[in-house]
Amino acid sequence: MVPLKRRKLVPSHAGNTGTNLSGEKVPAKFPQVVLFLLERKMGASRRAFLSQLGRKKGFQVEEMLSKSVTHLISENNSGAEVRAWLDSQDQKPAHLLDISWYTESMREGHPVEILDRHKLQDQRINEAEVEVFSVPSYACQRRTTLDNHNTTLTDALSLLAENAELSDEEGRGVAFRRAAAVLKALPKPVTSMSQLRGLPCLGEHSLRVVKDILENGASSEAESTKQSGRYNALKALTGIFGVGAKTADRWIREGIRSLQQLQDSGQTLNRAQQAGLEHYDDINQPVTKAEADAIGEIVERAVVSVLPGAQMSLIGGFRRGKLTGHDVDFLITHPEEGREVGLMPKVVARLESQKTTRNSYLESNDGPARPASNIDRFERCFSIFKLAKEEKRGATQPETLTENGVQILQTKPARHKPWRAVRVDLVVSPISQFAFALLGWTGSKLFERELRRWAGHEKAMSLSSHALYDNKQISESDVGGGDICTSWFGVHPTVREERLTRLLSPYRRTKRSPI
Ligand code: UTP
Ligand code: MN
Repeated sequence: MVPLKRRKLVPSHAGNTGTNLSGEKVPAKFPQVVLFLLERKMGASRRAFLSQLGRKKGFQVEEMLSKSVTHLISENNSGAEVRAWLDSQDQKPAHLLDISWYTESMREGHPVEILDRHKLQDQRINEAEVEVFSVPSYACQRRTTLDNHNTTLTDALSLLAENAELSDEEGRGVAFRRAAAVLKALPKPVTSMSQLRGLPCLGEHSLRVVKDILENGASSEAESTKQSGRYNALKALTGIFGVGAKTADRWIREGIRSLQQLQDSGQTLNRAQQAGLEHYDDINQPVTKAEADAIGEIVERAVVSVLPGAQMSLIGGFRRGKLTGHDVDFLITHPEEGREVGLMPKVVARLESQKTTRNSYLESNDGPARPASNIDRFERCFSIFKLAKEEKRGATQPETLTENGVQILQTKPARHKPWRAVRVDLVVSPISQFAFALLGWTGSKLFERELRRWAGHEKAMSLSSHALYDNKQISESDVGGGDICTSWFGVHPTVREERLTRLLSPYRRTKRSPI
């Protein structure tokens, strides 16, 4: 090591001193420039080496970030990352620079002019210039396009939401879904925590996840969840059609963590679950829009053949413009009220006679476990549809697909199968409730939840997939007996919705008509 030339200490320059290699204070050669090297991604030893090099050249390089630091030097960090880190430090150096400025200055022996290429990208540290986002608090009041500028953040939050839902923690699940929905609605990527100030639905936990990602590139909680045995077991088991979180949890407690272990365990599976296991890979492969359209044509033909004039609409995620989905959802109605009664079993029988559906589950019979929150009273059918593979489509009529397809699946590799299994969800509504059904089944689940919450809290109205009612017009006598509740407004929301649904049932005439 080459010792630095001793310089006399000048007390008036006390604020602008550097530290020489022997730890002594020396006046800085460039008093206007106080440097701080960010250790993040640079590493402690490289930082120590570069700091010493700077001091040797007469630069003032601080160990700690303080108010006096004018230039922050970073290596391999983006401007966004550095600014996110600074947010947690409460310090704002005037210049955020790349290591290139530092090495060039070292080479020149003095601070070189700061050029654009030296500045960390998107280097706006002035708080006033950082775009602070603002969105309305209910998801249904926001315009959210399919363009998500914050996928890293929303993927992590959605994963945590999914984990909470699979663990039967609905409240936590909704909180994470709400937070993800807010971030999905933002017009640009989030680069700094300060941009999120004042945004609704971002609780302490969600903010912690966002901060972790902005600072470290990933959420440690989401990453460890992804690795966790329990999450993976829940995901594998609930991937079986007809298996919900509760069943999966019971099996896990019995030591079953994989499909193989389930098969080996000899557990009795219901009809839906057996089919779910049989078509596991197909069902867990996303459905494309083209496949949804192809299924739509087949279902529509069946619907019209059993009830001429019946109309069918694509609902669910595909109606929202999504390019893939986990199933395909259709809403069926007839322009003449009442003609739709009894339609579903006929449609299902027609599709089964064509061998286009592998298994159908009319809701009233043996459908897979339904979420307790579902209170819709429409005729509904879940089925596993046999869709001819694209090259076969058109050439092969669905009628020609026989049960043999299933045997092929069992004896030969899946790629030889001429069709794939797709989950299809059918709903029938009377035309008088069609608008509400269309709105209610378009989703997303969170959007529907928020729309109903908004209607209730902000407009004093009750919205369901059947009707929209003005709460002020509904009297206690309409709602039914006072056994559980004493007044309409004091009723637990679930009970109220159930009663409202009963009230709106096509089988019970009420004096009030929907809005
Ligand atoms: P999906 O579960 O099919 O969701 O329900 P999705 O939005 O289409 O997404 P993917 O692509 O299939 O995963 C469709 C909509 O139907 C309503 C909800 O509004 C949901 O968003 N729905 C679904 C109900 O009202 N009740 C239910 O039991 C299920
Ligand atoms: Mn769907």
